[in-house]
Amino acid sequence: MKRKTYYLITLGVLATLLISCSNAKKAEQIAIIPKPVHLQIDNNESDFIFFTPITIYYEQGVTSLERAAKFYAQIFDQKFNTQTTITTDKEIKATIELKFESRIKEEGYEIEIEDNGVEIEVSSYPGAVYALQTLLQLMPEEVCNRQGVDKDTKYAIPALKIKDYPRFQWRGMHLDCSRHFFVADSVKRYIDYLSMNKMNRFHWHLTDDQGWRMESKRYPLLNTKAAWRVDRSQDEWDNRKPIDRNKGEEATYGGYYTQEQIRDIVAYAEARGVMIIPEIEIPGHSSEVFAAYPELSCLGKPQEVTPGGYYPKEMATCFCAGNEEVFTFLENILDETIELFPNAAYIHIGGDEVDKRFWSECKKCATRMRKEGLKNIDELQSYFIKRIEKYVNSKGRPIIGWDEILEGGIAPNATVMSWRGINGGVKAAKAGHDVVMTPNSHLYFDYYQNSPEVEPKAIGGFITTKRVYGFEPTIEGVLTEKEAKHILGVQANLWCEFIPYFSDVERMTLPRMMAVAEIGWTPKEMKDWNDFSKRLTSNAKRLGAMDANYHKGSTVVNIEATYNSSKKVFEVDMISEIYGAQIYYTTDGSEPTLKSTLFTSPITIDRTTDIKAIIALGGKVLSNIASVRTIGYHKAIGKRLTYGHKFAENYPGNNGDNTLIDGFTGTVRHDDGYMQGFNSKDFDVTIDLENPIEISTVTGSFMQSVGTWIYLPKEMVVSTSADGTTFTEVGRV
Ligand code: ACM
Ligand code: ZN
Repeated sequence: MKRKTYYLITLGVLATLLISCSNAKKAEQIAIIPKPVHLQIDNNESDFIFFTPITIYYEQGVTSLERAAKFYAQIFDQKFNTQTTITTDKEIKATIELKFESRIKEEGYEIEIEDNGVEIEVSSYPGAVYALQTLLQLMPEEVCNRQGVDKDTKYAIPALKIKDYPRFQWRGMHLDCSRHFFVADSVKRYIDYLSMNKMNRFHWHLTDDQGWRMESKRYPLLNTKAAWRVDRSQDEWDNRKPIDRNKGEEATYGGYYTQEQIRDIVAYAEARGVMIIPEIEIPGHSSEVFAAYPELSCLGKPQEVTPGGYYPKEMATCFCAGNEEVFTFLENILDETIELFPNAAYIHIGGDEVDKRFWSECKKCATRMRKEGLKNIDELQSYFIKRIEKYVNSKGRPIIGWDEILEGGIAPNATVMSWRGINGGVKAAKAGHDVVMTPNSHLYFDYYQNSPEVEPKAIGGFITTKRVYGFEPTIEGVLTEKEAKHILGVQANLWCEFIPYFSDVERMTLPRMMAVAEIGWTPKEMKDWNDFSKRLTSNAKRLGAMDANYHKGSTVVNIEATYNSSKKVFEVDMISEIYGAQIYYTTDGSEPTLKSTLFTSPITIDRTTDIKAIIALGGKVLSNIASVRTIGYHKAIGKRLTYGHKFAENYPGNNGDNTLIDGFTGTVRHDDGYMQGFNSKDFDVTIDLENPIEISTVTGSFMQSVGTWIYLPKEMVVSTSADGTTFTEVGRV
């Protein structure tokens, strides 16, 4: 008896160990993005074996479930080359049961997987779509193959329970289809990427200076003229001169989405849980319209659609705010937009970067300002947007606009898209307006994500997936809890000046989009970069199976140094954002290789040094170029620097007044805090070296990044003084 008990206990312990091992392995294999709120693997249940033929049951009479069942069937049929059966008969054994449960939050879902099937409970159609996305992510990556998988394929899916719902109501991606035009099928593919990541807003940038993309029945010249430009793709973007018709040149680049295509895309998106927010740019970024209807600009003169970033002075870029015809035109266009996007909860009216110079010099605009008692051109912009808002509101829709709509007074019901950092969003939220956070500090996907030296040309900046992931939309410590409720969510923007093909759209948005998805969905407390980057490795395989041209990640080593003033040394840490990668580095100026020192813990530096580092994974070097951090152990460290003209407010650098002499030189990034920005006035600083000392060299480093409007100085002058009053020039370059 005793022996028997002992034997049983031993078996029991063994069995528990075996189960927990396999559960750990299962947990390892589950790599859902965005991470679900609750996920519990069922220890006592066998895997569910998913195989065809598939039967989907839904509760009779619930239209959202019926629609979801049909959508599931469509996806399964295409993926598994099968014919799914849909039933409302409870007696039939179903692969998936779809049920309505009012307790579940909007867009949320619950999944219970047992050895005999899958039960999904939702309270909304999008919830059912997201449940399907989760279910697909529990299957091997081959399920993402474009051509589908063999219909006899069987997948073991772990028994588990998931309860999931989003943190934010706005989880968006923007796509600029004006600077470059992407065909309707590509737009649908973009929507597929959003849906697989449970993102629910597609901000469709349909109009801009380089081409009008929404078919208009009311204004056909928009389709035939404003949608087309001369193709100058052989020239630099900023240097693309307007068409020369005298030379027989033709406007051959461009296109527009027909109203039929737009309706089809809207339905396609809605079926995938994605709402499209159309953007019609008002009142700026509108020069393409004047190629068709020149009478709507302040200049009133014929002009052509600009083929790039070349803006001659005589090219009007904004609607005339003093011309009533402009408002008639815009109201008619907005009518068409509202009709084409019947489920759009907002109409985006642009509002950014208006070149108000044209208004300052226009008689009609001056008359408008006088009549309306507007004190300046900011108030004229505010008048314009308020009037548009009133019209759009009268059609039952709210407006959303870029953060410039705050200038001169925000329209009463407008929602603000904060893009120039977070400040516009903070200001709007404090004033009681809703906000979508899309700051160019973290969520501009036209920025580089790896060393510019090894990347195709981008607009500038530097935003890696890790940086994206680090963004917190509610701006802790700045917004109160009540104000933070105005933050509807997050969105990343893809401006396409340097993105001619859809494969480039994929490269710039995947996988950074997944980081945005997780910011928008997963509770803040559950955000964990290491865990996310590990899950990203699995999801990259899915993107590969989809033939998506995804980016392999930043191979930049983040070399972070801090000055320890008591020890008079720099302490240096090195970080890679590639999961599981190693870092090799040198400090003697040589190029690092796999034979260089392996970085294991922070190092100290006490002289001027170039630290160079590379990333390797599995014995293979990933970096095409070494990351370099130059530490200048120079004579001004710890001394006092004063400014003739203070640095620009938005470019203060990491170390305030000490930034320029803190020993760190700038990088390729304009916003990493290693450089300081100066605006309008000359850069002019004085360093007090305290005692007479010998100086052999003075070094400064400067940046030019035309896309971000940062330019090199014309010259640099160095003067010295013994008394701080009389200066003698000692060098000029
Ligand atoms: C913007 O990037 N101009 C909104
Ligand atoms: Zn005007």
